[in-house]
Amino acid sequence: MTKKIPLLIDTDPGVDDALAILMAFNDADHEVVGLSIAAGNVGLEYTVRNALKLCEVAGRDDIPVFAGCDSPLVLAPREDAAHVHGRDGFGDSGFEPAAREAESEHAALAILRLSHEHAGRLLLVALGPLTNIALALKLDPTLPQRVARFVVMGGAVSAHGNITAAAEFNVAFDPEAAHVVFEAFPHFDLADWEATIAHGFHHQKAERWLQAASPRARFYDRISLQTRKWSADRRGELWHSADALAMAFALQPDGATRLAERPVQVELAGALTRGATVTDWNRQTGRPDNARILLGYDQARFEALVEAALAAG
Ligand code: RIB
Ligand code: CA
Repeated sequence: MTKKIPLLIDTDPGVDDALAILMAFNDADHEVVGLSIAAGNVGLEYTVRNALKLCEVAGRDDIPVFAGCDSPLVLAPREDAAHVHGRDGFGDSGFEPAAREAESEHAALAILRLSHEHAGRLLLVALGPLTNIALALKLDPTLPQRVARFVVMGGAVSAHGNITAAAEFNVAFDPEAAHVVFEAFPHFDLADWEATIAHGFHHQKAERWLQAASPRARFYDRISLQTRKWSADRRGELWHSADALAMAFALQPDGATRLAERPVQVELAGALTRGATVTDWNRQTGRPDNARILLGYDQARFEALVEAALAAG
C-alpha cells in the first residue's frame, strides 16, 4: 500500500482556512501531520483557538496544533480580516473552546522538525500570512531542500488585489515574510486571489452542501454564516473560498486546467503597491520562474471536493 503524503498546513483560521482543512482531513492520499498557526485573518489567540476547535469538531484531536508568530516580521499590519470572518475569525458563532491546548513547540520550530521527519516527501501548504515559514527559513535556510512541494494561497498575479487595489491579504499582511519565502523556495505553486475569484460557487449550492447530516457541516454552517452574508451583500451570487481552491490544487494538482510558470516577486516599498506580487509575464527580468501559477482548475472537481469535505465524518 502506498504511504500517504505527509501534509503540513500553515494557516490563519479563518472561515475559508477551515474549509481547506476539512478538505485535507477528508483526503485519503494525504496525512495531516500538523497545523502551524499564523496571525492574519484575526489575532493569533483566535486563530489558534479556531484550529483547535475545528480539530475537535472533526474528531481529529490527534493532529498537533502549533502556535506561531503573533505579528508580521517587521511592520504591524494595517488591518486584519475580521470584517470578513468575524471578530473571532469563526463568524462570532459563540462556540465552547476546545478542551485541548496547542503544543508548546513554536510553529517555526515544528515546521523545521517536521521537514526533517518527512524529508523529501512533505507537502507544505500555506493558507495565511507567511510569517512562520519566513521565520523557519531564517532559522534554517535549508528548509526548501526537504519540502517535496510547496503550495501557497496568496498574491494577485495581475495586481487585482482584495485588501488593497494591488495586493492580496496574506501577502500584504506580511510582505517581508512573503519576500523571504518567495526568494528562498526555487519553486512553489501559487493559487492567487484572481484564481479564487474565477472559481466561485453559487450560494444556493453551498447552502445545500451545508445541510449534510454531519457535525462538520453543522459546525461549518454556523461559522460561515456571517461571511456568506457578507459575500452575498458585496460579491453577488457567487461565494469564493481562496484557501479551499488552494487546497484542491494541493490535494489534486491534476485538477488544474491552466498553469503558467513565471518569476514572481513581492513589492515592499510602493506607497500604493506594498504587498503586491509582481509577475514578470514577459520574462524581462531574466529571473528564474519560481512560481507555478494556477490559472484554471476543474470547477466540478473543486466543488465535489468541497461538498465531500463537509459531508464527511
Ligand atoms: O486573500 C485571501 C486569503 O486571506 C485567505 O487565505 C483568507 O483566509 C485570508 O487569510
Ligand atoms: Ca487564510
